[in-house]
Amino acid sequence: MAGFISLPISSIKTPFLPTFNKRNPFPFASNGIVSCKANNNTDSSPPNCLDRRYMLLGLATNLVSDPFALAAPIAPDFSRGCSDAIPVAGAGTIIGDPVPCCPPTSIKIRDFELPRVRKIRYRPPAHLVDCNYLYKFELAMERMRALPDDDPRSLFQQARIHCAYCNEAYIQKEPPLDNPDQKLKVHFSCLFFPFHRMYLYFYERILGDLIDDPDFAMPFWNWDSPCGMTMPEMYVDPASPLYDENRNVDHQPPNLVDLNDGIGTNELKERGIVFDDLSRRGQIKTNLSLMYSEMVRRSKKATSFHGKKYRAGCKFEADQGCRPEPGGGAVENGSHIAIHKFVGAKRPPFNEDMGNFYSAGRDPLFYAHHANVDRMWNIWKTLPGKKRRDFSDRDWLDSSFLFYDEKKNLVRAKVWQFLDTETLGYGYQNVDIPWLRSRPSPRRPRPGQVRGRGQVKVAETIDIRNAFPLVLDKVVRIKVPRPKRSMSKVGEDVEEVLVIENIGIDRNASAKFDVCINDEDDETSARPEDSEFVGSFTNVPHGIDHPDSKLNTSLTLPISDLLEDLDVKDDDDIEVRLVPKEGKGLVSIGNIKIDYIRD
Ligand code: C2O
Repeated sequence: MAGFISLPISSIKTPFLPTFNKRNPFPFASNGIVSCKANNNTDSSPPNCLDRRYMLLGLATNLVSDPFALAAPIAPDFSRGCSDAIPVAGAGTIIGDPVPCCPPTSIKIRDFELPRVRKIRYRPPAHLVDCNYLYKFELAMERMRALPDDDPRSLFQQARIHCAYCNEAYIQKEPPLDNPDQKLKVHFSCLFFPFHRMYLYFYERILGDLIDDPDFAMPFWNWDSPCGMTMPEMYVDPASPLYDENRNVDHQPPNLVDLNDGIGTNELKERGIVFDDLSRRGQIKTNLSLMYSEMVRRSKKATSFHGKKYRAGCKFEADQGCRPEPGGGAVENGSHIAIHKFVGAKRPPFNEDMGNFYSAGRDPLFYAHHANVDRMWNIWKTLPGKKRRDFSDRDWLDSSFLFYDEKKNLVRAKVWQFLDTETLGYGYQNVDIPWLRSRPSPRRPRPGQVRGRGQVKVAETIDIRNAFPLVLDKVVRIKVPRPKRSMSKVGEDVEEVLVIENIGIDRNASAKFDVCINDEDDETSARPEDSEFVGSFTNVPHGIDHPDSKLNTSLTLPISDLLEDLDVKDDDDIEVRLVPKEGKGLVSIGNIKIDYIRD
């Protein structure tokens, strides 16, 4: 019986910090101290070299009487079945009948076994593959599409997996006591990276099996680099099995992706939004700065990168993190969503396939997109600074999901098995990472612009004492006090964060707002290439008719680096500016505060 309230599980420090890396294709190689042959591992307990420590702590997953008995990993409760999703468009209009999202059932569930790795297969950037690769990949996709709909390996069923885990097809094992029917969701929490890594792993193994090539590596869409910032050409040929007709046709090459809004340069122009540097180079610069912020500035801790903890077994309503979607990490909330929006259709069916979670897995481009997201997880762990490590929290490590493997076996995969890609037999081809050189800088007056306080005030400054709840229908400024000014008082390893709490929005509304701090320029708000730009909140419609149509989430934005860059780290407060970009008036905010996180 789980009951982490009596002894917070997060306070138990396990020494389980797997560093399996044998070979690191990234520029900042981490030191692979623990060399671990996980190959002969045949059950679902941790790799052999870690067994002893794991056992000593009584943490082995299969112990009959677990001395801690506190575990509350997230898992779907298969015994309680699977239910359909009802897709809706835009602001809650039902556009169809319930959509079955449930993969085929199977009575036998096997525990996933780590593969025997003979050689690492490297996933290539989609824009650099040659015709031999393309031939193989298209053949594999063609075969996957041709499988009967009830075959769990078919694209039809692969898409359903995403729908099932994103659109609440399963009930959460050990649901909170006050909600025994609590559904499971994998977005906007610490489950985001591991779930999608697993999902892609099985997808890739199926493709390889369909062309009898166990070394087949799927491509990644290198949208974080100038040459990869368009939809990869091979996906936009209507005759190709990689094509999907439910996409925004206005965003085909040569249009550059817009990692900021996902709206695209053309449409911004159409809407009359013109930034002074809205050129191709301007868009690339914005994208690169944004990647730097997401990966370096805003991802210094496991929580800020992966997202907030989400665990099962909560006993009280007040328990934190017992419900889905406690808050996503920087990449999930940022570039990841922007790409979904960028690709999703602009005409009916609106947002499909990529721009709506229930349908996203129908588009082959989804998998290339997520391969790049997965690559970000690998890169993150190689960035300088010792603190970029995954959680060692057992609830996270033992969380599990079910997938069909290439032999149609239903397997249960656990997060701890998916922390190191080379242990799984794959890696990413080494390409330049230009955003590492794209650190945002404080705003400078733009040519012909006078700046500074006292300029035209277009934003209203609200007193924090009576600011909330706040409906975000215009630009607002709020002074937020900093409880502990000097970092010497809180310690070096602490990250100062801006927390926007109780963000309320209809699950099916599209909305986005930017967050800036100490942005003195009133006419235009800071952009991702400016240090004053902290981040954004974006909601992608979930595409499901939900009894509780309101999403309630929070946004945590690290600001330590920014305060330093802006030279305001000794100030008593910061001025937060919220800029609605899309869906004005659809978002409400419950509170804004400064907090300090340690992980
Ligand atoms: Cu599960 Cu990019 O979404």
